[in-house]
This record gives sequence, structure tokens and C-alpha cells, in this order.
Amino acid sequence: MNAPLIPPAGARLLRTVSIAGTGAYIPEKVLTNADLARLVQTTDEWIVSRTGMKERHMARPDEAASDMGAAAARQALAAAGLAPTEVGLIICASITPDMPFPSTACFVQRLLGATNAYGFDITAACSGFIYAAEVAKNAIATGSVDTALIIGAERLTGAVDWEDRTTCVLFGDGAGAAVLRAQGAPHGIRSSILGSDGRLAELLMLPGGGSRHPTSLETIQQRLHYMKMSGREVFKHAVTKMIEAAQTALQRAGLTIDDVDVIIPHQANLRIVEAIGQRLGAPKEKYFINIEKYGNISAASVPVALDEAVRAGRIKKGDTVLLIAFGGGFTWGSMVVEWDRD
Ligand code: UT7
Repeated sequence: MNAPLIPPAGARLLRTVSIAGTGAYIPEKVLTNADLARLVQTTDEWIVSRTGMKERHMARPDEAASDMGAAAARQALAAAGLAPTEVGLIICASITPDMPFPSTACFVQRLLGATNAYGFDITAACSGFIYAAEVAKNAIATGSVDTALIIGAERLTGAVDWEDRTTCVLFGDGAGAAVLRAQGAPHGIRSSILGSDGRLAELLMLPGGGSRHPTSLETIQQRLHYMKMSGREVFKHAVTKMIEAAQTALQRAGLTIDDVDVIIPHQANLRIVEAIGQRLGAPKEKYFINIEKYGNISAASVPVALDEAVRAGRIKKGDTVLLIAFGGGFTWGSMVVEWDRD
């Protein structure tokens, strides 16, 4: 639970943490539903009615997660009015890192010239950005660093099986970023909740290429290097956990859904967002949706939507913003942020 802003006697003072800038990068190449219907047995009608997706973007062959992450980070730093050398911590959330090691965060650091930062990656699938935000918030609140750059960057078109219509139509590429800072705002990030349940790991995973199934001719022949998902099961858990997480985050902030101005949900399926909307009791106008353009971009989903909402003027100073995500692991998270910049 978030520490109170005014700590009890003897407790160390925690600083409030604000989102000082956001950015996004989406690769140029568009893959439409019609393009996919030429690759696998599917239709535009099926994809739109079951998911809400119309297009997704695909990175160039020479574009890795760090390249997209660095592009999004540059925008976020510009929005915050900061130089890369002012960043003390870089956390990159990704399930499609450049390589097992070094971390994608270290590659982003190199691309930015953020020479005063330390960096590492977080693997929490589609919840990764909220996980990164929570870790960075705590590092800033306790005074360990002043400025953190958090990034969700994914190149999922390289991780899906282009012969499996149940997954390949769903995912796209892109990156989103945010700069977190202690800037003396009264609230900033007001509350958060993270959760995970490893008992359900098999429902959504990419089994090959790690120490369980090191890459071999056999693992490739078995297509273990591609993502596997039990979509219907994942759907049910996503709805339940995203609702619970949002309710807990609001409770921790001492707010109700009526206090929220904008909701940024992980964009995995429009029907998931609609189901959450009904049960949380928020009108659909409060939800920021961009799934039709990008599909599911995992850890990049929440920060890309956040950045678009800010740039479109949907999020204004003083607004209360609710972030909600769910992903493989399973992992989930929600965060309540008071927007304190113009
Ligand atoms: O980001 C991390 C979290 N991920 C999610 O939250 C994803 C959660 N799951 C979902 O969004 C949905 O379950 C899917 C979009 C993946 C699938 O939608 P669904 O309504 O749950 O479909 P289903 O899996 O129950 O499949 C229904 C039918 C099946 O055919 P039969 O068995 O009824 O004949 C599938 O084979 O749809 C078929 N199908 C397709 N048909 C055309 C599955 N994929 C496709 C496809 N095109 N691309």
C-alpha cells in the first residue's frame, strides 16, 4: 500500500512522484486485417467483431525494441524539458527484448547517451509499464534517484507464429515512454497495485529460447519460439483481474470511479474493455481506446495510449487518470495518477 504523504513521526519522508512527460513511437508499416486475411484463414469481420482491431504496425527488419524505445524516450524527455544526462534510472518493460542480455534498457541508455543512469529490464508482459512505473516511483519517492525514464517497447511481430491465426492477428509493434520525477506536486502518482499468479503461466507464454527449452533445431521444429495463448481463458482472467486491480487502486487513493476523468486500459481486446467498463460503472467516454490502430502492443500499450491521450488533449492538468493492465504471468496492475502538468 502507498505510504501516506504525511508520514508518521520518525518515518522517513517520501516524495510525491509525477509523470513529467510522455512519448511514443509507432513504426510506419501498417498491416491491415485484409493483409492478414491473405496470410491465414481469417476475415476483417472476425477480427473487428472479436477484437476491435483494424490495423497494427510492423517494425522494419533493422528495428529492435531498443530503437523504438529510444525514439519514444526522446519524445518523453523533450516533453519533460530534460536532457538524457539528467536521467538517473531507465527501466524497460518488454517481452521482446533486443536479446536475452544485455538489457534493452542498456541499449536504450547507449542510444540516448543517458550516461548518468543505471538501467534494467522488467518482464511482466502487458502489465510491464505499470510494473516499471511502480518500481521507478518507489526509487524516486525514497530519494534514490530524482528522474526515471520508463519504457514499454515491443516487437511482437517477431514473436508470433504467422501460421497461427489465433494469435498472429492480434499483436503489433511500438513503444511508449514516460519520465517520472519528484517535482513537488501535491499528489502525482496517488496509488498503485500490482499482482501476479504464476500458477496460470501456461495460458500465455513463449516457451522456447530460455533455460527451460534452449534453442535447438527441435525447439524450432516444435515452434516453441513463438507465443502460445489460450485466448478464451486469458480473456476471463483479464476481465476479473483488471476490475479488481482498478477497484483496489481507487480504494487506496481514497477515490471512486466517479472521481476518474480518463481510464487508460491495456488494449488487448475491445470486448475486454467493454466488459470492464460495465462492471466498473464508468461511462465509455472515459475510456481512451486506440486498439483499432495498433492491436495489442503488450508493454507498449498503456504508455502509447497515455501519450496519445495527453497529446490529443484528452488528459488535462488536474485530471485523475486510471491505468489498468493485465498480461502473461499472469500479471496485472493498476495506478491512479493525478495529472499535474499542462
Ligand atoms: O495482452 C495480454 C492479454 N491477452 C488478452 O487479453 C487476449 C484475451 N483473449 C482474447 O482477446 C480473445 O479470446 C481472442 C481475440 C484471442 C479470441 O476471441 P474469442 O472470441 O475468445 O474466440 P475463441 O478463441 O473462442 O474462438 C472462436 C472461434 C474458433 O472457432 P470454432 O472452434 O468456434 O470453430 C476459433 O478457431 O474463432 C476461431 N478463430 C478465428 N476465426 C477467424 C480464432 N482465431 C480466428 C481468426 N479468424 N483470426
